[in-house]
Amino acid sequence: MLKIVVCVSGGGTNLQAVLDGIDAGIVTNTEVIEVISNNAKAGALKRAEAHGIPGICISPKEFADREAFNQAFTDELCRLKPDLVVLAGFLVKIPEQAVAHFGNRIVNIHPSLIPSFCGVGYYGLKVHEKVLERGVKVTGATVHFVNDGMDEGPIIAQKAVPVQEDDTPEILQRRVMEQAEWILLPKAIDDIANGRIAVVDGKVIKKQ
Ligand code: GRF
Repeated sequence: MLKIVVCVSGGGTNLQAVLDGIDAGIVTNTEVIEVISNNAKAGALKRAEAHGIPGICISPKEFADREAFNQAFTDELCRLKPDLVVLAGFLVKIPEQAVAHFGNRIVNIHPSLIPSFCGVGYYGLKVHEKVLERGVKVTGATVHFVNDGMDEGPIIAQKAVPVQEDDTPEILQRRVMEQAEWILLPKAIDDIANGRIAVVDGKVIKKQ
């Protein structure tokens, strides 16, 4: 059984997609053991509670400095001993000590086709604003392993989504969520839970 901790900051629609996937048997051999948010008011914590999953808030605001937060966040992950840490709309940079400890056992869902529209400052609606500003015709989402960079770890899967003429950032975000994020993340977790993913020379290999 793959024990996972899901880290969230917002509404939790990606968390919900994982929970629904587990309930529907699309995500197998997986258990969410805790949800961690940096935002005490995150709707994602309410979704965890509704599903009977422990949820806690560990916010940088509660600590004297970022180093103290980083240590507390890492300590909580080490206490829980998850097999996989899932960043589902988590807007805080993962501490280096957590990346070092968990290696290729942290995954993130990003709402663009990496390496486009990613890195510092590219999160949430801002990603889609930049996509529309640039006028690209295809965008999408990427699920990847997390390393010390920002959105730079080995890519596990991607899914393309068309940009429509009259899209607003909000409309495009919703389409990317529905047609890409909410499909990619559960599938990636199920693949990892069932041993279908390996990282060789920094590239993800999918085993059948
Ligand atoms: C969304 O912008 C999503 O694209 C990104 O994080 C944001 C919040 O997602 N992954 P969620 O509804 O909290 O899962």
